[in-house]
Amino acid sequence: MIDIDQLWKMPPDSIEARQDEVHVWRVFLNNAPEWVQSLSQALSEEERQRAKRLSLHRERQDFIATRALLRILVGRYLNRSPDGICFNYGTNGKPYLAVRDGHALRFNLSHSEGIALFAVTLGREVGIDIESIRDVRVPEVVAELFFSQRERALLKSLPEEIRSKAFFTCWTRKEAYLKGRGHGLTVMRNSFSVSVAPDASAALLEVTTEPDEVSRWSLLDLNPDSRYAAALAVEGKDLKIRCWQLTGNMQELPVRTTGKTIGRNTPLNVPIVRAR
Ligand SMILES: CC(C)(COP(=O)(O)OP(=O)(O)OC[C@H]1O[C@@H](n2cnc3c(N)ncnc32)[C@H](O)[C@@H]1OP(=O)(O)O)[C@@H](O)C(=O)NCCC(=O)NCCS
Repeated sequence: MIDIDQLWKMPPDSIEARQDEVHVWRVFLNNAPEWVQSLSQALSEEERQRAKRLSLHRERQDFIATRALLRILVGRYLNRSPDGICFNYGTNGKPYLAVRDGHALRFNLSHSEGIALFAVTLGREVGIDIESIRDVRVPEVVAELFFSQRERALLKSLPEEIRSKAFFTCWTRKEAYLKGRGHGLTVMRNSFSVSVAPDASAALLEVTTEPDEVSRWSLLDLNPDSRYAAALAVEGKDLKIRCWQLTGNMQELPVRTTGKTIGRNTPLNVPIVRAR
């Protein structure tokens, strides 16, 4: 059974990854240049180069902020400096802790239009996805490209006024599962189906070539903000999901970096800002 508390509370003083828990962290991204600049200190050289290659300013800012926050969070769980974390990547780009660390911490992240979500757990795969709900003119046409036949039929059966919301609900449920598995864009659209209606429980309905997958995963909707759809996919069933808000001056996440302290007395803030 899944026990989920979606109140986005302040985190406790001490956090520890546990096998029977998934910690979901919500951050309202602030694109103030000085904030992003201070976060960029936590990035590796390779990540800085990657940021430089992103031509859109907003995209670059968000990449720097989310990657640095990922390092800070993972560093907090491992009691390590953010710049001392080393990532490896799966075939389709899913980041993991470097194999040499041999640590069972698992994580995933997603961001959209000013909100980032991070999921952290131990010893089980996890995927997370968030999308701002936009008006999709003809959601059924876009769905042709990505959704299974079953999902398209479910979408079509819904009243027109909720189809955009249903589209993003279905999208994030699918994407969370794909990200949990570390898949990429190559997955066949008909190979699996999720529930579609926003008021239906998130569920992996079928995985055509691997029927056991349905019982192996839990799929859940998250509610980070009413203007967004978001979902979490995690291996296993009996789990507690804890949702925390990362805000303030990072006192709740005191982080050491080599030679300096990031926390109470530094400008590395995660100010309380609302997503646009
Ligand atoms: C790579 C992919 C997961 C990125 O998704 P996105 O919505 O553009 O971006 P998000 O903000 O949700 O997530 C990006 C983060 O996911 C992680 N990520 C990247 N590749 C991943 C993969 N294959 N699996 C899991 N996580 C991945 C990274 O941390 C990345 O952050 P970074 O760019 O800072 O490195 C996505 O493009 C993809 O391939 N999706 C699956 C394909 C698909 O068909 N989707 C349609 C669903 S209906």
